[in-house]
Amino acid sequence: MSEHVLVTGGAGFIGRFVTDELLARGNRVRVLDSLIPQVHGQVDGSKMLSREAELIRADIRDGDAVAHALTGVDSVIHLAAEVGVGQSMYEVERYTSTNDVGTAVLFEKLIDRPVRRVVTASSMSIYGEGLYTDADGATVEDADRPNLRDGLTQWDPTDAQGRPLVPMATPEWKRPALSSIYALNKYVQERTTHIMGAPYGMESVCLRLFNVYGPGQALSNPYTGVLAIFASRLLNGQRPMIFEDGEQRRDFVHVTDVARAFADALTLPEAVGGTFNIGSGHHRSVRDVGIELARAMGKNDCEPEIVGKARIGDIRHCFCDTTLSQHRLGFAARQDFGEGLAELAGWVAEQTATDNVAQMRAELEKRGLVA
Ligand SMILES: NC(=O)c1ccc[n+]([C@@H]2O[C@H](COP(=O)([O-])OP(=O)(O)OC[C@H]3O[C@@H](n4cnc5c(N)ncnc54)[C@H](O)[C@@H]3O)[C@@H](O)[C@H]2O)c1
Repeated sequence: MSEHVLVTGGAGFIGRFVTDELLARGNRVRVLDSLIPQVHGQVDGSKMLSREAELIRADIRDGDAVAHALTGVDSVIHLAAEVGVGQSMYEVERYTSTNDVGTAVLFEKLIDRPVRRVVTASSMSIYGEGLYTDADGATVEDADRPNLRDGLTQWDPTDAQGRPLVPMATPEWKRPALSSIYALNKYVQERTTHIMGAPYGMESVCLRLFNVYGPGQALSNPYTGVLAIFASRLLNGQRPMIFEDGEQRRDFVHVTDVARAFADALTLPEAVGGTFNIGSGHHRSVRDVGIELARAMGKNDCEPEIVGKARIGDIRHCFCDTTLSQHRLGFAARQDFGEGLAELAGWVAEQTATDNVAQMRAELEKRGLVA
């Protein structure tokens, strides 16, 4: 199927790979992106965007610009967003405006210009803590860490009797547990996509992305992309800074695998109406990932600095159960993690990046968001 696709946020990290994938499959691509300075200040993503794509530089909240961008378009991939869990906890209006209102503007304009299908980027952050089992083998959906505020370093969630819970891969059926404004925003985007789809004759799909990594992620943005943040530190001769004890577990999925998932989600009949996890299906501790990246960048002396404090709103463990996306979308991540890190290291070596991590930590500490 060859279509004219609008990719909102298409000049961003994931958007550029999605654009390339769509073009490679014979589609025409139009990008709407306002090129926000936090992402494009140092490395202008529009310069890395394929020249075959048409770029409209405009804000997703600008109804006229969105209406114009929708003209003649067959389908939409909605990626435009402010991205950052920690920052969303104090830039509340900015996040809610772009993420919630921006999505509202997009769908309001789609009423008069409906498309065949809209695929929206959601996030694993909506789960809050991932799924756990307790000592009796029972599934726990609502694990929590209420003691973090007291400065206790019992990082792992426990049950009511104080017994440790064991993390499991998180499937889509786990109820959302929204613990940041960003997570709330992503859930609103997800629900808006499904609520507005069917009544206006549009197919809707949402992809809950886990930790996406790869070349081209904004290195100087200290709020998003743990690997990009580590890389920026290492590039500046600093040790990766890791909150808690570094044993928190995540699923790292390569951006090319994510781009393929979006292109498939746009066409596969099995995707319609669905919400799917997109991850590698493997989990790693953040500390191990910091060590592996330092090695890949030839910075063996830069062992991660373990902060021993938590960011309020951060979760302990969440990693991806890929069963549903495997069955319904035939999705399986292909990128080997070690090779992906080597590729990332190669790209980073050619970049310059300002390390803004200390500033990020200061912003959070000043507001009592680090305990
Ligand atoms: N990177 C990840 O690990 C990850 C994980 C889960 C979900 N996601 C989601 O995937 C999508 C893309 O993320 P990314 O990592 O490529 O981030 P990114 O910051 O690189 O890309 C987002 C793009 O949106 C644009 N944008 C921001 N505000 C805008 C506005 N008001 N109007 C128009 N454009 C605007 C930015 O300029 C940027 O190019 C986002 O929706 C994000 O929430 C990303």
